Amino acid sequence: MTFSTDRQFPRTRPRRLRRTAFLRSMVRESVLEPGDLILPFFVQEGTGQRTPVPSMPGVERLSIDLAVELARQAAAEGISAMAVFPVTPGEVKSLDAAEAWNPDGLAQRTMRAIKDAVPEIGLMSDAALDPFTTHGQDGIIDDAGYVLNDETTQVLIQQSLSHAAAGVDIIGPSDMMDGRIAAIRDALESAGHIHTCIMSYAAKYASAYYGPFRDAVGSAGNLGKADKKTYQMDPANSDEALHEAALDLAEGADFLMVKPGLPYLDVIHRLKSELKAPVTAYHVSGEYAMLEAAAANGWIDRDRVMLETLMSFKRAGADAILSYHALDAARLLNG
Ligand code: PBG
Repeated sequence: MTFSTDRQFPRTRPRRLRRTAFLRSMVRESVLEPGDLILPFFVQEGTGQRTPVPSMPGVERLSIDLAVELARQAAAEGISAMAVFPVTPGEVKSLDAAEAWNPDGLAQRTMRAIKDAVPEIGLMSDAALDPFTTHGQDGIIDDAGYVLNDETTQVLIQQSLSHAAAGVDIIGPSDMMDGRIAAIRDALESAGHIHTCIMSYAAKYASAYYGPFRDAVGSAGNLGKADKKTYQMDPANSDEALHEAALDLAEGADFLMVKPGLPYLDVIHRLKSELKAPVTAYHVSGEYAMLEAAAANGWIDRDRVMLETLMSFKRAGADAILSYHALDAARLLNG
């Protein structure tokens, strides 16, 4: 059967439903709310310290006291959660990344401080070793520089247990080791942390969009010219994302994540439509930097492009979005 839209006209005029604000509102398919947003932030040592990140205009590394202030503001705007990323001083980085599971490490102290002062906001952490290794890789390496899977997983377990003990609500393994979701889940269950969620960075691509983040946490210099292609995924693949995500769900992941965001909207859509599990999009540092750079030049309308971008994740099927724009976006949404 052929379907001709010509014959419908003028009985059907799609523009009828676009003419007024109330009509547009009635037929709007996706909704973007502050509660959809997760705010990632960078924490550094000290008190009263804020250090701008040059490649992320508007983003600052904050000492714990100021991070607590940020948490208060985020909670007041209805943001659901924050994701903590520590800027580890060079002198505590090592080959075995021991600082990653230090109960009094910067990340763990930040978690306790925020949970104490602003218990209503959700707190998410990153399970990966790149802030703590001298070489900037997400895991333990062998003599050839290859990231060792099972040895790394053992460290990720210790790191995750220390985060759970510090009160984190959601652990986000961003390391891409095989089998780590099951290993972390089993360790959390055995330790009695049965309510601690896992948001698996299931489809994390070996992307060039992470550059500003690596500047922010100070791992870019450690990584040098090396890359993460032996564990992060090939940007050419999408079936592989489904495979990875299905494994992570079977291993006990509560949420799936796709990262980066905008260049991978198709992957978000596939994961949501085929697996029907909670999916989060990570609108990453390089995406933030591009938007801010264009806005700073007066080439785009920053606020409108920001909200349109965040809405695109919801339309693609994401349930939640990590974005460095979260606080500004929530303020706009709250009017
Ligand atoms: C660490 C990690 C990275 C990001 C989040 N967790 C960097 C990387 O994998 O190199 C990137 C986030 C961003 O670019 O905003 N494994």
